[in-house]
Amino acid sequence: MSILNNKPKNTPNTKQDSKIDSSLATVNAASAVELSAVENDFVVESDSTNQPTQESVTDKANSDELSFVHDAVLLQETVAAVLGVKALPKQTDDAEQSSGNQNSLQMSGVYVDATFGRGGHSRLLLSQLADDATLIVFDKDPTAISVARELAKTDSRVKVVHDSFATLTDSLAAMGITQVDGLMADLGISSPQIDDGSRGFSFMRDGAVDMRMDTSRGQSVAEWLEKVDDETLANVLYEFGEERHSRRIARAIKQMDSYDSTLALAEVIKVAHPNWQRGKHPATQSFQAMRIFINNELGDVDDFLEQSIPILKSGGQLAVISFHSLEDRRIKQFLQRHSKGQYPEDENLPMPPKRPRYFSKPKRVGPSKAETSQNPRARSAWLRMATRTDTDYLHSVEQ
Ligand SMILES: C[S@@+](CC[C@H](N)C(=O)[O-])C[C@H]1O[C@@H](n2cnc3c(N)ncnc32)[C@H](O)[C@@H]1O
Repeated sequence: MSILNNKPKNTPNTKQDSKIDSSLATVNAASAVELSAVENDFVVESDSTNQPTQESVTDKANSDELSFVHDAVLLQETVAAVLGVKALPKQTDDAEQSSGNQNSLQMSGVYVDATFGRGGHSRLLLSQLADDATLIVFDKDPTAISVARELAKTDSRVKVVHDSFATLTDSLAAMGITQVDGLMADLGISSPQIDDGSRGFSFMRDGAVDMRMDTSRGQSVAEWLEKVDDETLANVLYEFGEERHSRRIARAIKQMDSYDSTLALAEVIKVAHPNWQRGKHPATQSFQAMRIFINNELGDVDDFLEQSIPILKSGGQLAVISFHSLEDRRIKQFLQRHSKGQYPEDENLPMPPKRPRYFSKPKRVGPSKAETSQNPRARSAWLRMATRTDTDYLHSVEQ
């Protein structure tokens, strides 16, 4: 499928349009791969040389929406981090594994995977947990939750929460849990969410302009676009997509008659965008911005991080993967603040107050070359991790 074939019907073929289309054709011909929006960049979805074609993946997926595939990013590194070990035991073949637990750390305790997705991280984590351990998994997405519930049917250690990880403290309290040994999150959207055009995340596949992770509640992007004024829309595009041409794009979007097609929306943004970057669809940042806004992604991450302080036991591990700088910066600053005890608001004070240090020195890990060549989505991933110190939690009002 070429990006050029995605042109919505009845779109006028202007001079600017044809200039734009031929430059995209160069991008496509050069990379000879299928592309779509993942986070804030194009991603290679299939490579005709050594990967299954997108058509074959999609055909298979259409037969059962649960079969959409997600390749877990920084898998070994994240699971090792959440368990507080340098590396997981080397995995041998199935026959050897079934003869005992030599490939499993058999860790006890309570762990949280805050973003279950298709359970890549959860499954590896479970393989390292003892029978008496508990794994609580969260996701906003009803399809991800269906997969998690299937897993919980076969593994009694798994407890499922269909809600935002921003409800961490309350959701755990409802299960009688006040503290955990490890907490992980793999932020953003999953490949299945992008691959299913009807969810509205992709500017490469047509669908309703929805973009909600939790389709059971909240307003869709289309509903919001109907009501929002030009200025607020421009601010969202600027703030959450770092889109420098936000005003021009917002005006063009607000002139649309309806918001029922992601391809039509992407086309309008494409035509309005004056400054294209090679290899990047001009709607990338605007789509990212609307998605982050409608799902309150940054607010949820802030809430989650703050709650990790009282929820993690002394010696407990926090591991968070992010895919774009807006998220990564927040995680970095949070861990800096709480590992150094340095708060931005103290910077200009002559005698800064002594702040608690809730985390040990944080570490950052990126994907290996082998991982990025196998899974291009991993290119922009960063894993940040830290260990909770034994400093007692002071409520923020007292700090
Ligand atoms: C990158 S995927 C996780 C993939 C997963 N680690 C795996 O291996 O399959 C991110 C998932 O987090 C979910 N998600 C994002 N923000 C969330 C939030 N605030 N609360 C709960 N789930 C969230 C998305 O719906 C998506 O399923």
